[in-house]
Amino acid sequence: MDGFLDNRLDRIRAAGNYRELAGSVDGVDFLSNDYLGLARTQVQGKLSSQSFVTQPRLPAGAFNGRITGATGSRSISGDTDQYHAIEQMIARYHGNPAALVFNSGYTANLGLLSALLKRTDTILYDELIHASCRDGLRLGMAKAIRFPHNDLEALSELLANGGRPDGQLFVLTEGRFSMDGDLAPLAEMAALCQQHSAHLIVDEAHSGGIEGEGGAGLVAELGLQEQVFATVITYGKAFGAHGAAVLGSAALREYLVNTCRPFIYTTGPAPAQWEGIALAYERMAALHGERIVLLRQRIQQFREGMAAAGLSAALMNAEGPIQILHLPGNDRVMAAEAACREAGLLVKGIRSPTVAVGEERLRICLHGFNAKEEVEALVGLLRAGFSSSGGWGLGGRSK
Ligand SMILES: Cc1ncc(COP(=O)(O)O)c(C=O)c1O
Repeated sequence: MDGFLDNRLDRIRAAGNYRELAGSVDGVDFLSNDYLGLARTQVQGKLSSQSFVTQPRLPAGAFNGRITGATGSRSISGDTDQYHAIEQMIARYHGNPAALVFNSGYTANLGLLSALLKRTDTILYDELIHASCRDGLRLGMAKAIRFPHNDLEALSELLANGGRPDGQLFVLTEGRFSMDGDLAPLAEMAALCQQHSAHLIVDEAHSGGIEGEGGAGLVAELGLQEQVFATVITYGKAFGAHGAAVLGSAALREYLVNTCRPFIYTTGPAPAQWEGIALAYERMAALHGERIVLLRQRIQQFREGMAAAGLSAALMNAEGPIQILHLPGNDRVMAAEAACREAGLLVKGIRSPTVAVGEERLRICLHGFNAKEEVEALVGLLRAGFSSSGGWGLGGRSK
């Protein structure tokens, strides 16, 4: 009955794009988005930091021993006063008027974009935006025009052309790009948007929890809350939890509650997920200051080590926790991933078509908890791999 799937899977294998779920893997984590190690941090008494004045104190055990599911959409039976208090706390933490929590970052981007984009609207988007944003654009009705990555001149030209007079003009970018690891020039983009009456949307999946005081994000760090129309903060990465919030005006929140199908037509986040998000903020407020210092040390060590190994040219110029090493060719990048894994160092090979053909790369996520020796071992292995002539290095085979 499902024989046709075998044919399709064969084609995926032949293209070198077959994916397998690995189950538990053992090794040094250069793979996860838990940049500050908050997902592996037990919450202990020391956490109620004085500086975290915005945290609503949840009664002890507020979520314990209660129902395990939301029981319905938040529009029906899945809402409580506590969830509203958590959303108000989130909005204050990032310096925005309002926040709306979603089940995941994927759903937040899909929901926000599909609800906003009407047939008469135009959206200009960075060519490297995440798959969740792309899917949101596909579900939305607007004319979508991409601009070259972080290219302010191209964006400015497109903005000058404007959108339809009877529609809205939007610009979409990420704070820190998930596959290149670099930051968007947000201050300049916000100024351009203001000049052309365009609404700026920023996905802060990889800058939320890292940039800004207390990990409030790049928009908050630059004080752009009033110029940015919508910001998406996700909780599955530096926050070490699960879910996402769309930050913006009270009107935006109200509009999404009324029109956003991936928010309305799904069971709301479970009580445990809300608890996880509230605790994540408590941990972030208490630990961001010390953890970000450790993370920056590891980033500096890695980049200096790669420079000393003569590998700077293959390394993307990005100063954040996502370090990108170019290794063109799906076979070659997967061989490099396998060699690292064999040595107990877990990195991720990114193949085409996730990135463009010829842009295949190793994605190395650094963490505050990575030991100095672990980073040394990784740099040593990459240096050896690059200098080998029969393997995946520069002298090796590239497809
Ligand atoms: C840039 C970006 N946006 C959104 C998402 C989706 O977030 P979530 O994993 O919470 O669904 C991701 C996840 O990888 C991402 O990298």
